[in-house]
Amino acid sequence: RMRIAVLISGSGSNLQAIIDACEKQQINGDIVAVISNRPNVYGLERAEKASIETVVLDHKEFESREAYDSALMEKIDTFTPDLVVLAGFMRILTPGLVQKYKGQMLNIHPSLLPKYQGLNTHQRAIDAGDKEHGVSVHFVTEELDGGPVVLQAKINILPDDTADSLAKRIHQKEHIIYPLVVQWFSEQRLTMEEDNAVFNNKKLPAHGAD
Ligand code: GAR
Repeated sequence: RMRIAVLISGSGSNLQAIIDACEKQQINGDIVAVISNRPNVYGLERAEKASIETVVLDHKEFESREAYDSALMEKIDTFTPDLVVLAGFMRILTPGLVQKYKGQMLNIHPSLLPKYQGLNTHQRAIDAGDKEHGVSVHFVTEELDGGPVVLQAKINILPDDTADSLAKRIHQKEHIIYPLVVQWFSEQRLTMEEDNAVFNNKKLPAHGAD
């Protein structure tokens, strides 16, 4: 069974979806640690309820991004994970950390990448007059929100949608696609090779699987 470390910064609803999929044996693995850069977030409670070891590594207690990331790397390593899952982890990672877990680190980003990398994706999609919006699961590379996409889910933007209403519908999609991608990885059907996502021995297109 695969050893999975999950990094969070907040409510952890994606963490919960992955906990549930592990408990139902959909994912061939176990979450061995939940690490948060913020104390007292709800995701930590979710982990504790599921009897998963939690770690708070508060970025405010470090002098630089490099110092934080090297402490984070050391902490992650103590759990010897096969996979590191970023689930609403709201920090940019240094190249050293990204390289260390190359091909073993996934992120979920609330946009149809390559659109809207960075923050405020829902409002930006509304402001641009987009008719559709979505969410992407991708491997993490040094390019921010730029790694190869594995899977996307789409929703329609309706005339009276707000950033909040979009976030809500996006979350429902996230809770379906993120556990599924982790499942594929845990079954060794998904890898990253030369900055391409490879699923069932087939290179995925830049926008991920259909
Ligand atoms: C999710 O919507 C995720 O896509 C987003 O944060 C939310 C976390 O929700 N991630 C990013 O914006 C990454 N830049 P959760 O804590 O309930 O899982």
